[in-house]
Amino acid sequence: MTEQIYTPDVVIVGGGVAGLTVALNLAPRKVCVITKSSLGVNTSSSWSQAGIAASVDKNDSNEIHLNDTLKTAKGLANESVVRKIVSESANVIRDLENIGVQFDKNPDGSFNLGLEGAHSHKRIVGSKGDSSGIEIMRGLINEVKQSPHITILENVSIDSIMHEDNTIYGVIGRFTDKNIPNNHVVIQSSHIVLATGGLGGIFANTTNPRSSYGEGIALAAQIGATLTDMEFVQFHPTGLDFGLDPTPLATEAIRGAGAHLVNQNNERFMLGVHPEVELAPRDIIAQNIFQQIDKGNSVFLDCRNNIGEHFETQFPQVHSYCVKAELDPSKDLMPIIPVAHYHIGGVKTDLTGRTSVEGLWCCGEVAATGVHGANRLASNSLLEALVFGKIVAVEINKQPFKQQVEVVSSSFIKTYKEKTRSKIRAKKFIWQLRSTMMRNLGIVRNQDSIIRGLRDLIRIEREARGLSAKLNDMILVSKFIIVGALKRTESRGCHLRFDYPNEDNNFLKHIDQSQETLQKDLNSFLLEIDLTEEKFVAN
Ligand code: SIN
Repeated sequence: MTEQIYTPDVVIVGGGVAGLTVALNLAPRKVCVITKSSLGVNTSSSWSQAGIAASVDKNDSNEIHLNDTLKTAKGLANESVVRKIVSESANVIRDLENIGVQFDKNPDGSFNLGLEGAHSHKRIVGSKGDSSGIEIMRGLINEVKQSPHITILENVSIDSIMHEDNTIYGVIGRFTDKNIPNNHVVIQSSHIVLATGGLGGIFANTTNPRSSYGEGIALAAQIGATLTDMEFVQFHPTGLDFGLDPTPLATEAIRGAGAHLVNQNNERFMLGVHPEVELAPRDIIAQNIFQQIDKGNSVFLDCRNNIGEHFETQFPQVHSYCVKAELDPSKDLMPIIPVAHYHIGGVKTDLTGRTSVEGLWCCGEVAATGVHGANRLASNSLLEALVFGKIVAVEINKQPFKQQVEVVSSSFIKTYKEKTRSKIRAKKFIWQLRSTMMRNLGIVRNQDSIIRGLRDLIRIEREARGLSAKLNDMILVSKFIIVGALKRTESRGCHLRFDYPNEDNNFLKHIDQSQETLQKDLNSFLLEIDLTEEKFVAN
């Protein structure tokens, strides 16, 4: 095997907003950023639409933003983390403006703020209507390209974290371009930052790039890191139901601009359900749309009266999807479905982004910092990624740095070779996994559906053993979600169980997991249930 070996001070896996923010703030340390595609491509950050939640309006305040976040989080948010991110919101906007990001402004120079569900004020700072992610990433990428301390390794997929005797040595992976044969990459470093994004790709319907399937969680779990809140998967109420994969998002800001949710009978079904109607918290909207669909109804966004002809200028990205689907939002109803959008859980970190494994740091969606509780307030995620990106860089800079020498142990290479030997297509099983996760662990769950999901996973694992590292990661991450969902016998935030419809104060706590607890938990569930039972066989 011919491998390329890099020896930066810090290796960052992931080139979205979180990863690039860490990289920029680590100067002058030597940093290597690894991205699975070309820089800026296939990252949820670039696909984000509305923008960054920031209390920059004179009638708004950090305290009100804090209260909205805590209220939405249903008792599980860590108040000090929330306080940290909201108090930094104006600073991160200023930092982005300083690197050339242009946010939408009013003629008087104030921000033209958007409104989203469960925000009591207009506070979404966006760019070019619904193109905020593209614009923020453009600014960060420009800056990264001018930063000599940063090396970008594009089109590289990471397979393992090199780790021996509780010490991190770096990561090992390969170029995804199949035309580069045997071209493996080893990046040695005693500090690894995972900024790999979320896991929507394990669900059949998602707004995430398919490459977001929880690989950072799997990488961290495989070396013993503690995970938490894995059951909290947030479904966005309004994916555009145009039969595309991934599902294009119709930003919540469209409802903030006055669009209504209706069914095929033109009924505004959210009326009377929640005082904020279409701007109720995301879990409530998603659940009600799910109920409509479950009854056999279709659900639409109606933008005709309240946005009308302004739609194209206000929401150019969504408009372009509509045009491709031969639909005019100023005249036609837009069909929508709830879709897997954001994973609240992930690798457990402290207030500095430190995980339970020495030398391993996480930020962005892969991290569970405690900021979102059981339900994330819209547009708090880019804010969290920007704030924690900086915090992680500052903390790493305080750490002693070991001189990196090329000492790749032959045991890593051997394991790695074994891992990648059987490279055949596993697509059939990947789709089976996505389908069962969507159906059984989707917006609403109950004990029977969760166990059906587990039964399917066990079969997929048996039949597809060793087919692909990606599938193995997807199975592992799905099992963590299943265990969390089985253990949390209540409904809280975005974890909705039909069989336990109420919040239960005994569950005002986080469910931590690890590779070690996973097998024990699964064994005890498997002892309790007979997976061959008729009701689990018939789906
Ligand atoms: C949206 O634009 O609706 C998505 C915002 C978010 O998920 O935070």
